[in-house]
Amino acid sequence: MPELFDNHNRRIDYLRVSITDRCNLRCIYCMPGKGAPHFKKHKDILTYEEIELFVSHAIKQGISKVRLTGGEPLVRRDVVDLIKSLSGLPELHDISLTTNGILLADFADVLWEAGLKRINISLDSLNPEKFKCITRIGNLSAVLNGIQKVFEIGFDPVKINAVVLKGINDDLSDFIKLTFNYPVHVRFIEYMPFSKQIGLERFVSCSEMMEKLNKFGKLEETDSPTGSGPARYMKFKGALGTLGFISPMSNHFCPECNRLRLTADGKLKTCLFSNDEIDVIGPMRNNHPEDAVKEVLRQALEKKPKDHSTARKNHFMRTMFQIGG
Ligand code: GTP
Ligand code: 5AD
Ligand code: SF4
Repeated sequence: MPELFDNHNRRIDYLRVSITDRCNLRCIYCMPGKGAPHFKKHKDILTYEEIELFVSHAIKQGISKVRLTGGEPLVRRDVVDLIKSLSGLPELHDISLTTNGILLADFADVLWEAGLKRINISLDSLNPEKFKCITRIGNLSAVLNGIQKVFEIGFDPVKINAVVLKGINDDLSDFIKLTFNYPVHVRFIEYMPFSKQIGLERFVSCSEMMEKLNKFGKLEETDSPTGSGPARYMKFKGALGTLGFISPMSNHFCPECNRLRLTADGKLKTCLFSNDEIDVIGPMRNNHPEDAVKEVLRQALEKKPKDHSTARKNHFMRTMFQIGG
């Protein structure tokens, strides 16, 4: 099996592919409040054929795990066809998707038939008013119906991502209850200040979250449902599901970082916190695609920063909906 290593000797086998910057929500920590966000034009984003080509050549180089993200991936037309063709690639060991769940009830069956077997759902609150406040326009029951549906169909694991914001959704008790009733993995994520919408006064660290949870009972360390990944997992005795903690701000997982990100407009990002981007769309359209993919991967591995502190800038060129988390 081919393997890719970066300049800091980390094995890179995970590619996150953002297939659109558009979204059917407007989360307060992600999208601007006023005015239409500036979305890319269709001609400036990678076609499905280009994404599939990129992924198939990247697999030959050592990528074995792919996640589709957005914006919201389910709003891009014919996304199921892309999943079908990617899941047919023999050396792709893991394909998954991160969705906000709004369209999930409609898509769950066809996603499963297309070959998707696991899914991550972004859901910051189980309270309808708080959910509406965070997403500005979202309807919680649509997401809950989607979650119900993926359990009925048999997706496994089902992970929920909740970005925790002080004074808004930092009462975590509803999520604890959920792990007692469903075999779900709820991951609490520290807020990362990518946009200027929300200040750091809303930041809650994972250790503060754990302190809060410890008041409900004894948390026990447990294995990750998918082996590696950025989260540390715990569970309450007797619970069917787990609670995960993703601490990009207080405790970097940079030494174990195994990922690259391909943006919808065809740029390869070496680190979430870095403004460094390698153009993919130009080389793919102007050169032999296999050579282009090899070359951009070579550059990315050479440039991938050692950690956040070497990557981090005060000003981020993109916010999350343009990167895909
Ligand atoms: P699994 O394979 O299911 O563990 O997926 P994942 O956790 O890599 O994917 P998901 O899209 O659910 O990511 C969860 C969140 O973790 C992201 O939205 C980010 O907020 C955070 N995250 C993931 N990767 C990185 C990373 O490389 N750096 C930082 N700082 N945060 C990350
Ligand atoms: N900080 C932390 N997580 C974020 N996400 C989006 N914006 C931020 C942010 N500023 C999360 C979403 C989703 C994932 C792809 O990224 O909630 O779960
Ligand atoms: Fe959309 Fe995700 Fe951004 Fe919310 S966080 S607006 S669901 S891209």
